[in-house]
Amino acid sequence: MAQVVFEDVYKSFPARKGDRTAQLTPVEPGLISVDQTSAPTATERDTKTDTVTVLRRINLTVEDGEFMVLVGPSGCGKSTLLRLIAGLEELTGGSIWIGDRKINHLPPKARDIAMVFQSYALYPHMSVYNNLAFGLRRTQSQHGQKRRSPVAVVRKKLESGLGVTTRVLPKFLRYRSKQEKIIEQTVQQVAEVLQIEDLLDRLPKQLSGGQKQRVALGRAMARDPQVFLMDEPLSNLDAKLRTQTRAQIVKLQRQLGTTTVYVTHDQTEAMTMGDRIAVMNAGQIQQIAQPLDLYNRPVNRFVAQFIGSPPMNFISVQVKTSQNLYHPLFSLNLPNGWSAVLQPYQGQTLTLGIRPEHLELAAKDPSHIPARVELIEALGHETYLSVLLIQPAQGVSNPLIVRINPYQQVMIGEQLWFSIQLDKIHLFDDQTHAALRPRH
Ligand SMILES: Nc1ncnc2c1ncn2[C@@H]1O[C@H](COP(=O)(O)OP(=O)(O)OP(=O)(O)O)[C@@H](O)[C@H]1O
Ligand SMILES: [Mg+2]
Repeated sequence: MAQVVFEDVYKSFPARKGDRTAQLTPVEPGLISVDQTSAPTATERDTKTDTVTVLRRINLTVEDGEFMVLVGPSGCGKSTLLRLIAGLEELTGGSIWIGDRKINHLPPKARDIAMVFQSYALYPHMSVYNNLAFGLRRTQSQHGQKRRSPVAVVRKKLESGLGVTTRVLPKFLRYRSKQEKIIEQTVQQVAEVLQIEDLLDRLPKQLSGGQKQRVALGRAMARDPQVFLMDEPLSNLDAKLRTQTRAQIVKLQRQLGTTTVYVTHDQTEAMTMGDRIAVMNAGQIQQIAQPLDLYNRPVNRFVAQFIGSPPMNFISVQVKTSQNLYHPLFSLNLPNGWSAVLQPYQGQTLTLGIRPEHLELAAKDPSHIPARVELIEALGHETYLSVLLIQPAQGVSNPLIVRINPYQQVMIGEQLWFSIQLDKIHLFDDQTHAALRPRH
């Protein structure tokens, strides 16, 4: 087990036709301008070197035993970062450390990591059991090789030969060395956790996609590496199995205490699994924090809309006075903590962020948002409304999502008022998209 440290990590690939041409400019963390209108992309082409930089200035410390989740939209560089730790890609700049070893130039085998890929591959000619046991046999023989006497080497070879020749026989006739018995215990334990005990004698081609994925996961977890790297290991599972396996992975990781870097683009997975989460966008880390900190205190607009489901609503408002926000349809008097922060913004516009769960159905009032119901999504335990804030004078409409209690009766086309929980609002600078924080 060990700490994993990224120091100023950069990664570029040779440019391909069609890659975006852009000037690479240094950006302050937390002050990242996010273009909401175009799909985020990690690739920016540097015309001087004809390369595209897909990871920029990555600084991250994954503590010993920590479960770190990397989350971000497709193409933001998550898999590339994992592949750099695994040694499957070469760094363009910076360093990566595992424990006290700088691993920049170590071959993958010497890094002592176990990885489950986004596109996993099992050994097709081996049973599930042997797929799980394979890594263990290899690790144990590597560990043992250094200190073995000639007699032990001969014994080991004999045992291994007997093991291989009798492997085709019925279970009770098979020869199992002491080492193989330990392996069997580990395989059983992992198979139990991942609910694949009944599949141990099957070949990969006799498994469903989800079962294969669990075997691939089990193969990595059966080993005892310094670091687990997991790249969307649950993507092929159905919703129920996904939730179950999610919990099992976390439980097993806690038991083993192995430092883990887990990649996903699913924010529920990130929130429920991670000790901490690193949110990435366009090749950069936007924020590293504990799950609830990300939800409560996102540093910028990107994190605010990426974490939370349905995502945060945004409304453009004008700072009338240091304690009042104005919108043509409503106005808000803010708590005291905001006044010092809003002072320099008087007369300017800001983006108000409010989550669907922090809006409530309310009576008509100048501080409440009037909106028309466009869509009703009743999920049973809660209902989401898609509503439109309509400003007839300007002809613009602002869509919002609101969570209401399922027993509240509403109709499509109905005009309603929504109150905002003022202690739950977020405000973002329109230029930098950075979050402003009230002072308490
Ligand atoms: N070998 C390569 N050559 C050139 N560009 C590459 C290479 N590998 C990845 N990229 C580019 O690097 C960027 C990041 O890719 P990466 O696979 O790390 O994204 P990701 O965050 O894992 O996305 P997803 O969620 O879709 O798996 C993408 O724009 C991708 O096209
Ligand atoms: Mg990926």
